[in-house]
Amino acid sequence: MKIGVYKECNGGAVRFRGYSEKAYPGEFEYLDFDTLLTDESVHLIRENGVEGLIYFNDHRFDASLWEKVAEAGVKYVAVPAVGHDFIDMEVMRKLGIRVSYVPGYSPNAVSEHTVMLTLALLRHFREQICRMEKNDYRIDDLRARELRSMTVGVIGAGRIGSTTIRTLAGFGCAKICAYDLYPRDEVKAYAEYADLDAVLEKSDVLIFHCVLNEKTRNMINRETIAKMKPGVILVNTARADLFDMEAIIEALDEGKIGALGLDVIDGESILKEDPLPGKCPLPLLENLLGRPDVIYTRHTAFFTDRADEDIIRTTVDGLYNMTHGVRTNAEL
Ligand code: NAI
Repeated sequence: MKIGVYKECNGGAVRFRGYSEKAYPGEFEYLDFDTLLTDESVHLIRENGVEGLIYFNDHRFDASLWEKVAEAGVKYVAVPAVGHDFIDMEVMRKLGIRVSYVPGYSPNAVSEHTVMLTLALLRHFREQICRMEKNDYRIDDLRARELRSMTVGVIGAGRIGSTTIRTLAGFGCAKICAYDLYPRDEVKAYAEYADLDAVLEKSDVLIFHCVLNEKTRNMINRETIAKMKPGVILVNTARADLFDMEAIIEALDEGKIGALGLDVIDGESILKEDPLPGKCPLPLLENLLGRPDVIYTRHTAFFTDRADEDIIRTTVDGLYNMTHGVRTNAEL
Protein backbone atom coordinates (compact mmCIF):
# COMPACT_ATOMS: atom_id res chain seq x y z
CA MET A 1 0.00 0.00 0.00
CA LYS A 2 1.23 3.49 -0.84
CA ILE A 3 1.52 5.94 2.05
CA GLY A 4 1.88 9.67 1.36
CA VAL A 5 3.88 11.93 3.65
CA TYR A 6 3.16 15.64 3.30
CA LYS A 7 5.62 18.24 4.50
CA GLU A 8 3.77 18.87 7.79
CA CYS A 9 5.19 15.58 9.02
CA ASN A 10 8.62 16.04 10.60
CA GLY A 11 11.47 14.18 8.96
CA GLY A 12 9.52 12.94 5.94
CA ALA A 13 9.14 9.38 4.69
CA VAL A 14 12.71 8.35 5.44
CA ARG A 15 11.88 8.47 9.14
CA PHE A 16 9.42 5.56 8.82
CA ARG A 17 10.93 3.37 6.06
CA GLY A 18 13.62 1.63 8.13
CA TYR A 19 11.36 0.25 10.87
CA SER A 20 8.55 -0.41 8.39
CA GLU A 21 10.73 -2.58 6.14
CA LYS A 22 12.12 -4.45 9.13
CA ALA A 23 8.75 -5.11 10.78
CA TYR A 24 6.50 -5.44 7.72
CA PRO A 25 8.69 -6.07 4.65
CA GLY A 26 7.09 -5.08 1.34
CA GLU A 27 3.88 -3.93 3.04
CA PHE A 28 4.13 -0.15 2.58
CA GLU A 29 5.71 2.15 0.01
CA TYR A 30 6.26 5.66 1.39
CA LEU A 31 6.12 8.71 -0.89
CA ASP A 32 7.29 12.18 0.09
CA PHE A 33 5.10 15.02 -1.14
CA ASP A 34 7.33 18.05 -0.98
CA THR A 35 4.50 20.41 -0.07
CA LEU A 36 1.92 21.04 2.65
CA LEU A 37 -1.52 19.42 2.33
CA THR A 38 -3.83 22.00 0.74
CA ASP A 39 -6.65 22.13 -1.81
CA GLU A 40 -3.91 22.65 -4.42
CA SER A 41 -1.77 19.66 -3.42
CA VAL A 42 -4.48 17.07 -2.69
CA HIS A 43 -4.29 15.84 -6.32
CA LEU A 44 -0.94 14.15 -5.47
CA ILE A 45 -2.91 11.51 -3.53
CA ARG A 46 -4.94 10.33 -6.53
CA GLU A 47 -2.10 10.71 -9.01
CA ASN A 48 0.14 8.44 -6.92
CA GLY A 49 -2.52 5.91 -5.88
CA VAL A 50 -2.00 6.70 -2.19
CA GLU A 51 -4.40 5.04 0.29
CA GLY A 52 -2.80 6.12 3.57
CA LEU A 53 -1.20 9.26 4.97
CA ILE A 54 1.17 9.86 7.83
CA TYR A 55 0.04 13.32 8.79
CA PHE A 56 0.41 15.91 11.53
CA ASN A 57 -0.80 19.48 11.84
CA ASP A 58 -0.94 22.00 14.67
CA HIS A 59 -4.52 23.03 14.03
CA ARG A 60 -7.73 21.91 12.40
CA PHE A 61 -8.66 22.86 8.91
CA ASP A 62 -11.95 22.89 7.10
CA ALA A 63 -13.77 19.53 6.79
CA SER A 64 -13.94 20.13 3.04
CA LEU A 65 -10.21 19.38 2.70
CA TRP A 66 -10.64 15.97 4.39
CA GLU A 67 -13.57 15.35 2.00
CA LYS A 68 -11.19 15.93 -0.90
CA VAL A 69 -8.57 13.69 0.72
CA ALA A 70 -11.16 10.90 1.06
CA GLU A 71 -12.39 11.39 -2.51
CA ALA A 72 -8.79 11.14 -3.73
CA GLY A 73 -8.57 7.67 -2.19
CA VAL A 74 -7.24 7.95 1.37
CA LYS A 75 -8.73 5.40 3.80
CA TYR A 76 -6.15 5.57 6.60
CA VAL A 77 -4.41 8.42 8.42
CA ALA A 78 -1.67 7.74 10.96
CA VAL A 79 -0.86 10.67 13.25
CA PRO A 80 2.74 10.40 14.47
CA ALA A 81 1.98 12.26 17.71
CA VAL A 82 0.05 12.20 20.98
CA GLY A 83 -1.75 15.46 20.16
CA HIS A 84 -4.48 14.76 17.62
CA ASP A 85 -6.71 17.76 18.33
CA PHE A 86 -6.44 18.82 14.66
CA ILE A 87 -8.42 15.72 13.65
CA ASP A 88 -12.22 15.95 13.81
CA MET A 89 -13.18 12.31 14.30
CA GLU A 90 -16.83 13.01 13.53
CA VAL A 91 -15.79 14.16 10.06
CA MET A 92 -13.34 11.27 9.63
CA ARG A 93 -15.95 8.66 10.63
CA LYS A 94 -18.46 10.15 8.16
CA LEU A 95 -15.81 9.92 5.45
CA GLY A 96 -14.84 6.36 6.43
CA ILE A 97 -11.22 7.32 7.15
CA ARG A 98 -9.66 5.27 9.96
CA VAL A 99 -7.22 7.22 12.12
CA SER A 100 -4.45 6.05 14.43
CA TYR A 101 -2.23 8.09 16.73
CA VAL A 102 0.51 7.54 19.28
CA PRO A 103 -1.21 7.08 22.64
CA GLY A 104 2.05 7.53 24.51
CA TYR A 105 5.81 7.71 24.11
CA SER A 106 8.73 8.65 26.27
CA PRO A 107 7.15 11.39 28.43
CA ASN A 108 10.69 12.24 29.56
CA ALA A 109 11.36 13.83 26.15
CA VAL A 110 8.83 16.66 26.56
CA SER A 111 9.31 16.81 30.29
CA GLU A 112 13.12 17.30 30.15
CA HIS A 113 12.68 19.98 27.47
CA THR A 114 10.17 21.77 29.70
CA VAL A 115 12.51 21.71 32.68
CA MET A 116 15.30 22.99 30.41
CA LEU A 117 13.12 25.93 29.30
CA THR A 118 12.18 26.69 32.89
CA LEU A 119 15.81 26.75 34.06
CA ALA A 120 16.90 28.69 30.96
CA LEU A 121 14.31 31.40 31.69
CA LEU A 122 15.22 31.56 35.38
CA ARG A 123 18.90 31.96 34.40
CA HIS A 124 18.26 34.58 31.65
CA PHE A 125 19.97 32.12 29.36
CA ARG A 126 19.02 33.78 26.09
CA GLU A 127 20.30 37.14 27.27
CA GLN A 128 23.53 35.48 28.49
CA ILE A 129 24.16 33.88 25.08
CA CYS A 130 23.36 37.12 23.23
CA ARG A 131 25.77 39.08 25.44
CA MET A 132 28.62 36.57 24.98
CA GLU A 133 28.11 36.65 21.21
CA LYS A 134 28.51 40.44 21.32
CA ASN A 135 31.64 40.30 23.55
CA ASP A 136 29.54 41.87 26.29
CA TYR A 137 30.73 40.25 29.53
CA ARG A 138 28.70 42.29 32.01
CA ILE A 139 26.54 40.34 34.43
CA ASP A 140 24.27 43.25 35.35
CA ASP A 141 20.58 42.24 35.45
CA LEU A 142 21.47 38.54 35.16
CA ARG A 143 20.81 37.68 38.83
CA ALA A 144 18.70 34.50 38.75
CA ARG A 145 16.23 32.90 41.16
CA GLU A 146 16.58 29.45 42.72
CA LEU A 147 13.82 26.89 42.56
CA ARG A 148 14.12 26.13 46.27
CA SER A 149 12.50 29.50 46.93
CA MET A 150 9.80 29.15 44.30
CA THR A 151 6.35 27.67 43.91
CA VAL A 152 5.89 25.86 40.62
CA GLY A 153 2.39 25.20 39.29
CA VAL A 154 1.80 22.45 36.74
CA ILE A 155 -1.45 22.63 34.78
CA GLY A 156 -2.25 19.17 33.43
CA ALA A 157 -0.55 16.41 35.41
CA GLY A 158 -1.00 13.50 33.02
CA ARG A 159 1.83 11.36 31.65
CA ILE A 160 4.12 14.28 30.80
CA GLY A 161 3.00 16.61 33.59
CA SER A 162 3.52 13.97 36.28
CA THR A 163 7.02 13.26 34.89
CA THR A 164 7.85 16.97 35.05
CA ILE A 165 6.58 17.13 38.61
CA ARG A 166 8.78 14.17 39.63
CA THR A 167 11.81 15.76 37.93
CA LEU A 168 11.16 19.18 39.49
CA ALA A 169 10.87 17.60 42.93
CA GLY A 170 14.55 16.65 42.54
CA PHE A 171 15.42 20.36 42.31
CA GLY A 172 13.91 20.91 45.74
CA CYS A 173 11.26 23.48 44.74
CA ALA A 174 9.73 25.25 47.72
CA LYS A 175 6.35 23.92 46.60
CA ILE A 176 4.85 22.18 43.59
CA CYS A 177 1.12 22.63 42.92
CA ALA A 178 -0.84 20.71 40.33
CA TYR A 179 -4.16 21.26 38.62
CA ASP A 180 -5.88 18.50 36.71
CA LEU A 181 -9.41 17.17 36.40
CA TYR A 182 -8.20 13.69 37.32
CA PRO A 183 -5.76 13.61 40.27
CA ARG A 184 -3.22 10.76 40.31
CA ASP A 185 -1.78 9.11 43.40
CA GLU A 186 1.82 9.17 42.11
CA VAL A 187 1.59 12.98 41.75
CA LYS A 188 0.44 13.41 45.35
CA ALA A 189 3.85 12.16 46.54
CA TYR A 190 5.49 15.31 45.07
CA ALA A 191 2.81 17.95 44.58
CA GLU A 192 -0.28 19.38 46.16
CA TYR A 193 -3.43 19.45 44.03
CA ALA A 194 -5.33 22.74 44.06
CA ASP A 195 -8.04 24.37 41.96
CA LEU A 196 -6.97 26.34 38.90
CA ASP A 197 -7.35 29.79 40.47
CA ALA A 198 -5.26 28.80 43.49
CA VAL A 199 -2.47 27.44 41.25
CA LEU A 200 -2.53 30.62 39.14
CA GLU A 201 -2.43 32.84 42.23
CA LYS A 202 0.34 31.02 44.13
CA SER A 203 2.83 30.07 41.44
CA ASP A 204 6.09 31.80 40.54
CA VAL A 205 6.42 29.47 37.54
CA LEU A 206 3.46 28.04 35.62
CA ILE A 207 4.00 25.02 33.38
CA PHE A 208 1.37 23.85 30.89
CA HIS A 209 1.05 20.15 30.08
CA CYS A 210 -2.72 19.77 29.63
CA VAL A 211 -4.50 18.64 26.50
CA LEU A 212 -6.14 21.16 24.21
CA ASN A 213 -9.92 20.89 24.29
CA GLU A 214 -12.86 23.28 24.37
CA LYS A 215 -12.31 23.87 28.13
CA THR A 216 -8.59 24.56 27.89
CA ARG A 217 -8.54 26.59 24.65
CA ASN A 218 -7.49 30.16 25.56
CA MET A 219 -7.46 29.20 29.26
CA ILE A 220 -4.72 31.81 29.66
CA ASN A 221 -6.30 35.14 28.79
CA ARG A 222 -6.55 38.66 30.27
CA GLU A 223 -8.80 37.44 33.08
CA THR A 224 -6.62 34.51 34.17
CA ILE A 225 -3.39 36.50 33.76
CA ALA A 226 -4.82 39.08 36.17
CA LYS A 227 -4.90 36.36 38.86
CA MET A 228 -1.17 35.54 38.50
CA LYS A 229 1.75 36.86 40.54
CA PRO A 230 3.61 39.82 39.00
CA GLY A 231 6.71 38.59 37.16
CA VAL A 232 5.38 35.03 36.81
CA ILE A 233 7.23 32.75 34.38
CA LEU A 234 5.10 30.78 31.88
CA VAL A 235 6.23 27.66 30.02
CA ASN A 236 4.01 26.02 27.40
CA THR A 237 5.18 22.86 25.65
CA ALA A 238 1.63 21.52 25.17
CA ARG A 239 -0.44 23.40 22.59
CA ALA A 240 -0.34 27.01 21.37
CA ASP A 241 -4.09 27.51 21.61
CA LEU A 242 -4.03 27.21 25.41
CA PHE A 243 -2.82 30.84 25.34
CA ASP A 244 -4.46 34.02 24.08
CA MET A 245 -1.21 35.42 22.69
CA GLU A 246 -2.46 38.99 22.44
CA ALA A 247 -3.06 38.98 26.19
CA ILE A 248 0.31 37.31 26.80
CA ILE A 249 2.22 39.92 24.80
CA GLU A 250 0.40 42.72 26.58
CA ALA A 251 1.35 41.14 29.94
CA LEU A 252 5.00 40.74 28.84
CA ASP A 253 5.06 44.42 27.87
CA GLU A 254 3.66 45.40 31.28
CA GLY A 255 6.06 43.09 33.15
CA LYS A 256 3.14 41.15 34.62
CA ILE A 257 4.62 38.11 32.90
CA GLY A 258 8.35 38.09 33.63
CA ALA A 259 9.42 35.52 31.04
CA LEU A 260 7.91 33.10 28.57
CA GLY A 261 9.05 29.73 27.24
CA LEU A 262 7.25 28.22 24.26
CA ASP A 263 7.72 25.08 22.21
CA VAL A 264 4.45 25.67 20.36
CA ILE A 265 3.15 28.67 18.44
CA ASP A 266 -0.04 29.33 16.52
CA GLY A 267 0.45 28.84 12.77
CA GLU A 268 3.69 26.87 13.21
CA SER A 269 3.00 24.63 10.18
CA ILE A 270 4.16 27.46 7.93
CA LEU A 271 7.64 27.09 9.45
CA LYS A 272 7.91 23.79 7.57
CA GLU A 273 7.85 25.68 4.26
CA ASP A 274 11.23 26.91 2.98
CA PRO A 275 11.47 30.48 4.35
CA LEU A 276 12.45 33.47 2.28
CA PRO A 277 16.03 34.32 3.25
CA GLY A 278 16.22 36.54 6.33
CA LYS A 279 12.45 36.71 6.73
CA CYS A 280 10.41 35.24 9.58
CA PRO A 281 7.14 33.96 8.02
CA LEU A 282 5.14 34.36 11.25
CA PRO A 283 4.64 37.94 12.51
CA LEU A 284 3.85 36.64 16.02
CA LEU A 285 7.13 34.71 16.12
CA GLU A 286 9.05 37.71 14.79
CA ASN A 287 7.67 39.74 17.68
CA LEU A 288 8.63 37.06 20.23
CA LEU A 289 12.12 36.56 18.82
CA GLY A 290 12.82 40.25 19.42
CA ARG A 291 12.34 39.80 23.17
CA PRO A 292 15.16 38.64 25.46
CA ASP A 293 12.58 37.49 28.03
CA VAL A 294 11.15 34.90 25.60
CA ILE A 295 12.64 31.58 24.53
CA TYR A 296 11.00 29.79 21.62
CA THR A 297 11.98 26.31 20.48
CA ARG A 298 10.78 24.82 17.24
CA HIS A 299 8.29 22.19 18.54
CA THR A 300 11.22 19.92 19.35
CA ALA A 301 10.30 18.89 22.88
CA PHE A 302 9.29 15.43 21.64
CA PHE A 303 12.37 14.99 19.48
CA THR A 304 14.72 12.64 21.28
CA ASP A 305 16.17 9.26 20.39
CA ARG A 306 13.90 7.31 22.72
CA ALA A 307 10.72 9.21 21.88
CA ASP A 308 11.33 9.08 18.14
CA GLU A 309 11.81 5.30 18.20
CA ASP A 310 8.53 4.95 20.11
CA ILE A 311 6.70 7.28 17.71
CA ILE A 312 7.95 5.57 14.54
CA ARG A 313 7.12 2.09 15.84
CA THR A 314 3.63 3.05 17.05
CA THR A 315 2.80 4.97 13.86
CA VAL A 316 3.81 2.18 11.50
CA ASP A 317 2.22 -0.50 13.74
CA GLY A 318 -0.92 1.67 13.72
CA LEU A 319 -0.97 1.69 9.93
CA TYR A 320 -0.39 -2.05 9.76
CA ASN A 321 -3.13 -2.84 12.27
CA MET A 322 -5.68 -0.54 10.64
CA THR A 323 -4.97 -1.89 7.17
CA HIS A 324 -5.35 -5.46 8.47
CA GLY A 325 -8.61 -4.76 10.27
CA VAL A 326 -7.12 -5.02 13.78
CA ARG A 327 -8.48 -2.46 16.26
CA THR A 328 -6.03 -1.34 18.95
CA ASN A 329 -5.91 1.46 21.51
CA ALA A 330 -3.85 3.43 18.97
CA GLU A 331 -6.94 3.82 16.77
CA LEU A 332 -9.17 6.82 17.43
P1 NAI B 1 -2.12 13.04 28.99
O1 NAI B 1 -3.43 12.75 28.36
O2 NAI B 1 -1.42 11.95 29.72
O3 NAI B 1 -2.24 14.30 29.98
C1 NAI B 1 -3.01 15.40 29.71
C2 NAI B 1 -3.68 15.81 31.00
O4 NAI B 1 -4.49 16.97 30.75
C3 NAI B 1 -4.59 14.72 31.59
O5 NAI B 1 -4.15 14.35 32.89
C4 NAI B 1 -5.95 15.38 31.60
O6 NAI B 1 -6.76 14.99 32.69
C5 NAI B 1 -5.58 16.85 31.65
N1 NAI B 1 -6.70 17.72 31.33
C6 NAI B 1 -7.74 17.50 30.50
N2 NAI B 1 -8.60 18.53 30.54
C7 NAI B 1 -8.08 19.42 31.41
C8 NAI B 1 -8.50 20.68 31.90
N3 NAI B 1 -9.66 21.23 31.49
N4 NAI B 1 -7.73 21.32 32.78
C9 NAI B 1 -6.56 20.76 33.23
N5 NAI B 1 -6.11 19.56 32.82
C10 NAI B 1 -6.86 18.92 31.93
O7 NAI B 1 -1.21 13.61 27.80
P2 NAI B 1 0.36 13.80 27.80
O8 NAI B 1 0.99 12.62 27.13
O9 NAI B 1 0.82 14.17 29.15
O10 NAI B 1 0.50 15.04 26.82
C11 NAI B 1 0.03 16.33 27.19
C12 NAI B 1 0.05 17.28 26.01
O11 NAI B 1 1.40 17.56 25.65
C13 NAI B 1 -0.55 16.67 24.72
O12 NAI B 1 -1.94 16.83 24.67
C14 NAI B 1 0.13 17.46 23.64
O13 NAI B 1 -0.68 18.55 23.32
C15 NAI B 1 1.43 17.94 24.29
N6 NAI B 1 2.60 17.37 23.66
C16 NAI B 1 3.56 18.22 23.18
C17 NAI B 1 4.69 17.73 22.57
C18 NAI B 1 5.79 18.61 22.07
O14 NAI B 1 6.69 18.13 21.35
N7 NAI B 1 5.82 19.88 22.42
C19 NAI B 1 4.85 16.29 22.36
C20 NAI B 1 3.83 15.48 22.98
C21 NAI B 1 2.73 16.02 23.58
